[in-house]
Amino acid sequence: MKKLLDLLSEEMEKAFEAAGYGGALGKVTVSNRPDLCEYQCNGAMAGAKQYHKAPLSIAGEVAEKLKDSEVFTEAAAVAPGFLNLKVSEDFLLKYLQGMAADEKFGLEMPGKPKKIIVDYGGANVAKPLHVGHLRSAIIGESVKRICRYVGHEVIGDVHLGDWGLQMGLVITGLKDQKPDLVYFDENYQGEYPKEAPFTISELEEIYPAASAKSKEDPEYKARAMEATYKLQSGDRGYRALWRHMMDVSVADLKKNYDSLNVEFDLWKGESDVHDLIPEMVAYMKDNGYAYISEGALVVDVKEETDTKEIPPCMILKSDGASLYNTTDLATIMERMRLYHPDEIIYLTDKRQELYFEQVFRCARKTKLVTPETELRFLGFGTMNGSDGKPFKTRDGGVMRLENLIRETKEEMLRKIKEGRRMPEEEARKLADIIAVAALKYGDLSNQASKDYIFDIDRFTSFEGDTGPYILYTVVRIKSILNKYREQGGDPEKTALTKPDNASEKALVMELCGFNAMMQSAAEEIAPHKVCAYIYDLANAFNHFYHETKILSEEDAAKKEGLIALLTLTRDVLETCVDVLGFSAPERM
Ligand code: ARG
Repeated sequence: MKKLLDLLSEEMEKAFEAAGYGGALGKVTVSNRPDLCEYQCNGAMAGAKQYHKAPLSIAGEVAEKLKDSEVFTEAAAVAPGFLNLKVSEDFLLKYLQGMAADEKFGLEMPGKPKKIIVDYGGANVAKPLHVGHLRSAIIGESVKRICRYVGHEVIGDVHLGDWGLQMGLVITGLKDQKPDLVYFDENYQGEYPKEAPFTISELEEIYPAASAKSKEDPEYKARAMEATYKLQSGDRGYRALWRHMMDVSVADLKKNYDSLNVEFDLWKGESDVHDLIPEMVAYMKDNGYAYISEGALVVDVKEETDTKEIPPCMILKSDGASLYNTTDLATIMERMRLYHPDEIIYLTDKRQELYFEQVFRCARKTKLVTPETELRFLGFGTMNGSDGKPFKTRDGGVMRLENLIRETKEEMLRKIKEGRRMPEEEARKLADIIAVAALKYGDLSNQASKDYIFDIDRFTSFEGDTGPYILYTVVRIKSILNKYREQGGDPEKTALTKPDNASEKALVMELCGFNAMMQSAAEEIAPHKVCAYIYDLANAFNHFYHETKILSEEDAAKKEGLIALLTLTRDVLETCVDVLGFSAPERM
């Protein structure tokens, strides 16, 4: 279906033309003075210069042409030359009927769907997930769902950090702790144990200690680099140990991502492209893209129009070791071969922006991608504590994601119990569902690139621009629909009717904006637009709800119409909630 605003503009364009002016002037927008009108057109103001005429008289002539319009019931020319518009209820009803009959509520599918890879999550094996990974997971999951909803083929890849120095550090730390492990015995020929020689908590303790030590002790660092090298060149024992780290870590990661409703199609990582690196390096050298500079292999990526210095992209270090860049470029090569994506979207902290700029330029210059392949970086800001500084635990440490989720669930439980009495187990289940919404909505409702403050009290509130408020609204609608069923009605067998009061009409107009909103959220990869939309929609619904009797409406056809409107509102809200990556409970 065409967007409502486009249809309104078409009607306005015809009127401008009929009055002898260029149709292009007839752009209609949502009113910025909702107290005066619903929509407006400022075309007469722009036309004044072009036609050397007073804007008000142009507006007057155009308004005259709209007298018998079936789209606008009111078109008033007001000083200094605005056209204030009211849309016809019959016209809205028709549009709404079209929406309700369509599986995607009037959203047009792309002529040629794209294949998109979303690279998000980015967890590191053997390192605990922290709040930085939270944003990547939450935003990435939503971007994946939005792109999928609007009709593209989307593959989500977690792109694990499972190959670099961090692995060598953990191995070195473990070797110092448990030197007798069979994995370190170079003469061992037999099978390695099935059982991992560590738990996830043990594993996660090794990394920070080893990392700190390597910063102070160059000899320790050299050993970690040596271990990394041994692992990457295929040492049997080290590979077996690495496999254990992967298994233990990935099981734990899945548990964490599950609890956040985050699911990946691919669990690939940096290690998966290890074997592609020699081929890629040879290709870059042979084609004259890469050269040796101070011992390292680099590709120049600066461009004439650069206003800041863009350093060369380093492919191999002087000791021949690969880097973060190397695996990212090899991953692009692999993705192009295996999936032929039209677009790859990366989600990380915005501090990696320059890094990705280098990688993208390098991939283009070396033709790892086709000229049409879109490489997009969505960098997000920091999640801060109430002091405005990066979020920390009470004692100043890095907050583990697991604990953050647990704290949010507990706060949610407290709020639920404060509100009303219910059995402990039911309250807990509910708290778990709503807490995910609180956390995700709190994050997604901000424009991704901005920093935001993690305010647990605000996020878990049932009032205001919050996840719980949205869910509360969905549940309120569900409960009215349930009562309607108890009265013997069937919400699925109701027909929409013309809105006949202001709050109902306002709700209908909000609903009609769904397709335009979803399309721009996908184009701009902007989940916050979905949040802003459902907040407005929920407000419009609640306002309507307070002004309208629904279940006690006496006119049977009108009552059905209201129930149909509720059903559509619920469906649109739940669709949006789903693309944001959470869901509403049945009751609360
Ligand atoms: N593991 C990285 C980190 O923790 C994020 C990976 C992002 N994705 C990528 N293709 N580089 O910072």
